Amino acid sequence: MTSETPSECFVYITLPGQIEPVTAGRFVLSTDRRGVPEGRFVYGRSYLERANAVALDPVELKLAPRTYATASLGGVFGALRDASPDYWGRRVIQRHLAKAQPSEMEYLLSSPDDRAGALGFGLNQVPPAPKRNFNQTLELAKLQSIADAILNEEERPAPAAADDDHADAADHDQVEKLIMIGTSMGGARPKAVVEDESGLWIAKFNCPDDSWNNARVEHAMLTLARACGLTAADSRVVDVAGRDVLLVKRFDRQKAEGGYLRTRMVSALTLLRAEDTYQSRDKWSYVLLAEEVRRVCAEPGQNAAELFRRMCFNALISNVDDHPRNHAVIAKDNDWKLSPAYDLTPAVPISQERRDLAMECGDAGRFANADNLLSQSARFLLKRDEAEAIITTMEKQVQGTWYATARGAGVSERDCDKIASAFAYPGFALLLGRKA
Ligand SMILES: Nc1ncnc2c1ncn2[C@@H]1O[C@H](COP(=O)(O)OP(=O)(O)OP(=O)(O)O)[C@@H](O)[C@H]1O
Ligand SMILES: [Mg+2]
Repeated sequence: MTSETPSECFVYITLPGQIEPVTAGRFVLSTDRRGVPEGRFVYGRSYLERANAVALDPVELKLAPRTYATASLGGVFGALRDASPDYWGRRVIQRHLAKAQPSEMEYLLSSPDDRAGALGFGLNQVPPAPKRNFNQTLELAKLQSIADAILNEEERPAPAAADDDHADAADHDQVEKLIMIGTSMGGARPKAVVEDESGLWIAKFNCPDDSWNNARVEHAMLTLARACGLTAADSRVVDVAGRDVLLVKRFDRQKAEGGYLRTRMVSALTLLRAEDTYQSRDKWSYVLLAEEVRRVCAEPGQNAAELFRRMCFNALISNVDDHPRNHAVIAKDNDWKLSPAYDLTPAVPISQERRDLAMECGDAGRFANADNLLSQSARFLLKRDEAEAIITTMEKQVQGTWYATARGAGVSERDCDKIASAFAYPGFALLLGRKA
């Protein structure tokens, strides 16, 4: 596949209430004469004729008989980018294809059909049967050792060119397993998708260079978030060959007779029409996201308030990795709403006066500070006193209960010491413009 060659694929979707996908449309990715990528998407006529057809996303690709075109994001529409592998998955696919730089289309087509959301991709007009053979939780030890092997591989130079023909046959099995392990899910941390009798989970593995037991700490933060009134993904920690692994229940899949129902899902990056790059950071904003959430969600007031609570919670646990891929909206049927919160991790920056979230949260930019969070509370459809009450209550709750929650989630005393300065840090309560 050269950069001049147009490449295309079919986009499939599993419609609300269904377990089998249908073809929604066709995506073509090409480059113009100057080498600038352009993506085009068109819904299939028979798809548009379906009474139960739904749009791929709530912002860009409205159900309509037209050709959508984009030069942003390397020509990959936001909804498709969200369904495409991210840092971890790309690493695994590079290894699988023995290519240092697969094309975007190769990334899309190489990842298995366990990606977040309801979309799928393929070269046949008729979608393949949905994936049924998931790795089981019982196989976590094997998956963990494969993830370790991929991490260790980082020490060695990446393969320079395609070498598929010479792929060692004995390695084939291993490679097949590799490609299964969480490739389609986003994020940077090693992970795998696993199934038990209740449904699908994302297994997140601890890494050797983690500063603390991430599995237990993230589980504790999801528990604390729920206690603070947020909707957060279900989680538990399991012991796998003597190591802790975090299991997060997938909220975009629901076990049903004979398969899985799938929920559409797009990230806040897509809602904000932003990229995952430093240059795009001026669009990363809770305040702007609140506007989008109000526009897109069936219950604007409820969702905007929930977003406000998440912003406050992230400020109170110093979760400075709250970038827009760590927020999403989902639609099980026709209506969109915020997804449960996920990927909540505390950080311990040295500064006690000022910590910045990844997204802007008020008039003073990204400053994780109560006054700053309050400064734009009206955009979250909250009255000033309601917003103040949320902040005050949550501040007390985080300050007063983080330790017991962490210990209850099995975080060691030593790790609690390490993360202690993340919670309700002094700068959070600093008064900015207001008089004391
Ligand atoms: N419970 C869930 N159900 C469905 N999809 C999820 C769930 N949790 C996370 N995801 C999706 O998987 C992606 C990766 O998960 P997560 O953010 O937890 O991983 P990570 O590797 O820690 O990410 P990061 O690179 O932000 O540190 C998310 O961006 C989201 O799209
Ligand atoms: Mg993440």
